[in-house]
Amino acid sequence: MEINKIKEYAKKNNVPIMMDEGLQFILEYIKNNEVLNILELGTAIGYSSICMANLNKNIKVTTLEIDYDRYKVALENINQAGLASQIEPFNINIDDYETNEYFDLIFVDAAKSQYGKYLERFTKNLSINGCMIFDNLMFHGIVDNLSLTRSRSTRQLCEKIFKFRESLIENTKYNVNYYENIGDGIAVVSVKN
Ligand SMILES: C[S@@+](CC[C@H](N)C(=O)[O-])C[C@H]1O[C@@H](n2cnc3c(N)ncnc32)[C@H](O)[C@@H]1O
Repeated sequence: MEINKIKEYAKKNNVPIMMDEGLQFILEYIKNNEVLNILELGTAIGYSSICMANLNKNIKVTTLEIDYDRYKVALENINQAGLASQIEPFNINIDDYETNEYFDLIFVDAAKSQYGKYLERFTKNLSINGCMIFDNLMFHGIVDNLSLTRSRSTRQLCEKIFKFRESLIENTKYNVNYYENIGDGIAVVSVKN
């Protein structure tokens, strides 16, 4: 299946996938930093994992998705893309996933309200020069301007994202590069040596 068909399917079926600019940023990061082993939190239908694995035959992606229907579509897309040997999708809640493996990149694109927890939980799985990349830190501009939404749950979510961003800025444990103008707001976080 062509990547554009996956994009179309996502649009038609309201499946959230990475915005072009954010995805390009991550693909460049992978190329420039010789990233080979990736953990992705939030597979959806496999769009970003397919794009990452397509960069290089030696790239391995482990990707986690809680929703069974999306996981099934991802599995199909991965098989059709001929990437089954490079991408390992799991139908699992991130909270239940444990591994001793080390990753060069942990890409966080799932439950935004849990970002702080994911940061604390998964830094132990970063390889020496590894980093975590968080997407959607602007949440379509709403994080910095709550009046853009009337939805109470969206406001609450954006307040949590705001607090997470503040905690990144104030922290002393991590190196943080925040790119508010790229995609939907991206942070690259690594552990200080
Ligand atoms: C923004 S989408 C991922 C998009 C994907 N990375 C892409 O760009 O193609 C976020 C996904 O995370 C999944 N998700 C949310 N909470 C989760 C959890 N606790 N465990 C596993 N997956 C979760 C959602 O079901 C959703 O499909």
